[in-house]
Amino acid sequence: MHHLADTEATQRVGRLLATLLQEGDVIALLGDLGAGKTSLVKAAIASLCDVDEDDVVSPTFVLVREYEGELPVLHMDAYRLSGPSGLESLDLALGSGPVAFVEWAERVDEALPDERLVLELEHQDGGRRLSVSGCGERGEVLAAELEKLLSQGKS
Ligand SMILES: Nc1ncnc2c1ncn2[C@@H]1O[C@H](COP(=O)(O)OP(=O)(O)O)[C@@H](O)[C@H]1O
Ligand SMILES: [Mg+2]
Repeated sequence: MHHLADTEATQRVGRLLATLLQEGDVIALLGDLGAGKTSLVKAAIASLCDVDEDDVVSPTFVLVREYEGELPVLHMDAYRLSGPSGLESLDLALGSGPVAFVEWAERVDEALPDERLVLELEHQDGGRRLSVSGCGERGEVLAAELEKLLSQGKS
């Protein structure tokens, strides 16, 4: 559990995460509207891809956005998808190729690859609380590495 006191702290998690990611990694983001999911993903994408943080916009209405870079990225928001079958119909081959950030991942859980990093954000004392966990071998490695970076207080 980590307390993120302000938006900058959330963005910092995104930048730290960006240093760990490899092709095919899936990051599931859980948490209500306003929890900070998009803030975290924007900072990660700005680090990973040739794009300004301000040019990364929430994919709420387009379902999925793609960003070019050494490591290509997909950013999707499952809020408006009709559950797991809605994600499957996008035919995105998650888990191979681009890194995939999935907001509202709980809505499409069954259609996500088993191997994934899970980041849960909740409101806490005016800031946010971050819980990090991982599924599958790669998910567990990513979770452990991110926990290590967060505990070192690096930025
Ligand atoms: N740790 C934090 N403490 C306080 N406010 C935050 C924190 N992280 C993000 N925010 C703010 O919360 C608001 C909603 O963030 P956003 O990333 O759009 O959430 P979501 O994508 O989960 O709906 C933004 O104004 C953002 O600046
Ligand atoms: Mg969002």
